[in-house]
Amino acid sequence: MPVTKQNRSRNKIILLAGVIVTIAMLHYLTPTEPHHYHKIHIILRKLYFLPPVIAAAWFGLRGAIIATTIVTVLFSLHAVLDWPGNYMEQANQLGELAGFWLVGLIPGWLFDRQRSLLLDLAKANEETLTGLVSALDLRERNTRLHSQRVREYTELIARRYGVDESTRREIGFGALLHDVGKIAVPDQILLKPGELTDQEWIEMRKHPEAGYRIVKRIRFLEDAAEIVHAHHEWYDGNGYPRGLKGDAIPLGARLFMVADVYDALTSNRPYRSSVTYEEAAAEIRALSGSHFDPVIVDTFMSIAPEQLQKIAGRYQDAGQSDLLAG
Ligand SMILES: [Fe+2]
Repeated sequence: MPVTKQNRSRNKIILLAGVIVTIAMLHYLTPTEPHHYHKIHIILRKLYFLPPVIAAAWFGLRGAIIATTIVTVLFSLHAVLDWPGNYMEQANQLGELAGFWLVGLIPGWLFDRQRSLLLDLAKANEETLTGLVSALDLRERNTRLHSQRVREYTELIARRYGVDESTRREIGFGALLHDVGKIAVPDQILLKPGELTDQEWIEMRKHPEAGYRIVKRIRFLEDAAEIVHAHHEWYDGNGYPRGLKGDAIPLGARLFMVADVYDALTSNRPYRSSVTYEEAAAEIRALSGSHFDPVIVDTFMSIAPEQLQKIAGRYQDAGQSDLLAG
């Protein structure tokens, strides 16, 4: 079973419940008489500080409030059942109770704040990368959205293939940035309307390596860099730059290859108009085992065309006049 966010949360809830039950049992079952047992009893009671902090770290303020409420009920019930005659002990227990709430509420609020800052940061990273690839797409293809569509297609195929969420995200970044190395390709080669000469092809084929060097310097994109490096490798080993073969090509790059060709075939380009889903699927099928990993081709074929068309609809390129005016 794949490890999903939901599964992880459920496991954490079970673990936390286990911690609370264990502490309560130790607390309830250790007697307060004779004196040396009472010492152990008081030490064990301090363990109630743990669940509010753990809940705050795992679930934020809301989780901390729930865990602290449970701890408060268990702690208070014991105090009622075994009411201490000593007023110092009564004050001590009240202080501990207040302490549970402090160690739950304050970290809960801080962890929530940290989470929202991290989300803002991730969004800012995302917008910066999208802006960069949009500019590159516009330079080369007169469209802004090719890389974003390819990213979504790649992530869709990855999900169907059974790739977990965090790996899908890394693969998505690799797909988004695949052609970033073309920044190093001169305009007269990149934008040349006719066939490239052999020398020009040599220059053009340097872009996966150039992209790899750019992307791998960004720590959170290290895995994405491997996809950028391998995005022109073919399953049969006839691709470039390293001629990797079969499973030696990173999975993300093998998924991307199918998505990229599907997008190229189904988008309008200045030199040809788009083909239908059926024509694109037939062409992809024909390249299974040579360009593409056959298992990934089968995975792609199992996706309903409507799902792919929904992505295409979401990233519809504006007409050329709109782009120039915008
Ligand atoms: Fe490329």
